[in-house]
Amino acid sequence: MSLDDCRILDLPKISDSRGNLTFIESVRHIPFDIKRVYYLYDVPGGSERGAHAHKNLHQFIVSMSGSFDVVLDDGNRQQRYHLNRSYQGLYVCPMMWRYLDNFSSGAVCMVLASEYYDENDYHRGYDEFIADVKRA
Ligand code: TYD
Repeated sequence: MSLDDCRILDLPKISDSRGNLTFIESVRHIPFDIKRVYYLYDVPGGSERGAHAHKNLHQFIVSMSGSFDVVLDDGNRQQRYHLNRSYQGLYVCPMMWRYLDNFSSGAVCMVLASEYYDENDYHRGYDEFIADVKRA
């Protein structure tokens, strides 16, 4: 798994005079089955979230409102993505160190995840993450 496996995906967008509608279907629009949804909101300006990696989890991150940045690091390269559109999201494959910052006021970050919450799936320390990348 590398940064090349992660990308911004466009979602369907149905627009008419009443507003926009976007939908996400498991496997059809994102490359995994959705088992869990969580969201970050009321994030104080200047806060940073994340700063961990997941061993097996696939995730899809959408800005439902406002904007924020996601920085991905595969152990060799880093890339910063700015998310500010509800009809796009960032697919994050397993074994990506990530952190989120630059939250605008009112930002809502929705994350779709391929597994239930499992603390054992986390690398909470960067050094431990790098050691696992090197083992692979
Ligand atoms: P964490 O993933 O560490 O969030 P962040 O990296 O953005 O700070 O989760 C924060 C806390 O919430 C942690 O105690 C675990 C808990 N949590 C759940 O119980 N279920 C979940 O689905 C998630 C994502 C977190």
